[in-house]
Amino acid sequence: EKGGYEHFMMKEIHEQPKVVADTLNSVLKDGEIDLSGVGLSAEEIRNISEIQIVACGSAYHVGMVGQYVIEDLARIPVRVELASEFRYRNPILDKNMLVIIVSQSGETADSLAALREAKLREIKTLGIVNVVGSSIAREADNVFYTLAGPEISVATTKAYSTQLIAMYTLAVQFAKIRGQISDEQYMGYIKEMQTLPDKIRRILEDKERIQWFASKQMNAKDVFFVGRGIDYAICMEGSLKMKEISYIHSEAYAAGELKHGTISLIEDETLVIGVLTQSALFEKTVSNMVECKSRGAYLMGLTTTGNYNIEESADFTVYIPETDEHFATSLAVIPLQLMGYYVSVAKGLDVDKPRNLAKSVTVE
Ligand code: F6R
Repeated sequence: EKGGYEHFMMKEIHEQPKVVADTLNSVLKDGEIDLSGVGLSAEEIRNISEIQIVACGSAYHVGMVGQYVIEDLARIPVRVELASEFRYRNPILDKNMLVIIVSQSGETADSLAALREAKLREIKTLGIVNVVGSSIAREADNVFYTLAGPEISVATTKAYSTQLIAMYTLAVQFAKIRGQISDEQYMGYIKEMQTLPDKIRRILEDKERIQWFASKQMNAKDVFFVGRGIDYAICMEGSLKMKEISYIHSEAYAAGELKHGTISLIEDETLVIGVLTQSALFEKTVSNMVECKSRGAYLMGLTTTGNYNIEESADFTVYIPETDEHFATSLAVIPLQLMGYYVSVAKGLDVDKPRNLAKSVTVE
């Protein structure tokens, strides 16, 4: 049942090209995005005043990416919040708001409670859900099904990747309907999204290199992930993967925040992983990385092919194929999933069932 892989997590990592393509294709019709299956009409999309994304864990990290992408493309204000915070906060919700709940299982107690809170206030809700017929899928006004298939490994990989694609298609379609992008840009974004499965496949072909690096780092005490903008959201996910399956303490930091406290934790050989997929922020993050290096850090850079000058500062670099920068998370997350996986394997840990964790958190 593991399809020849040693762990479900590795099997699921390798399923990503397919399930990303399946999820994208499920909302494409005649080469354009069609959200009628999701149940959002053009008029409803035009009337959205604001979007509130609510989720837990990795699904929350998808929400963070969604915030950047939707705001940048569709110019709709987006807030993103942890479900466990949202539900007890008496949030201010506008009647023309759209509340998006992201959940693989569709059963996460806090996410479900947040959905019910929104419904109680008669706010339109959209669930991005993987499990058909789950509570969130049944109760949300609209459902965007991710087609990841059953995810067994406790640490999410393929569901996360399909949730990202769902976010991108919403962003691109909202942008088109609200007149924020031209037809040409619209078709360009769709075409670019269609290249992602193949680019993910290419990254996976190089996994041995990550395995080698991960086995060298298996005794790390702390790992810091730093990035700006979308790259910060990617760092959050990379850091969670590292903690949950490798049991290495890690933190994700918005790179500009380092000097407001965290940099005091950098010692000789501390691993700092810089994520640099956003060209406008590249130099800024590099200079934060260099600050860490001058305090003894060992630097890994994760950046787009072509940014070779990273090698002037980084001790080890992983390149991902070029893509539109809005969609770079789909590629950058892959080496970080592999890092978490291979460190866990090198340490002989139970990769698919890390201690103290459950696949679906149905109690708060
Ligand atoms: C991390 C992970 C969790 C889930 C979170 C939400 O790898 O899997 O952080 O993302 O528990 O679960 P769902 O998406 O089922 O609501």
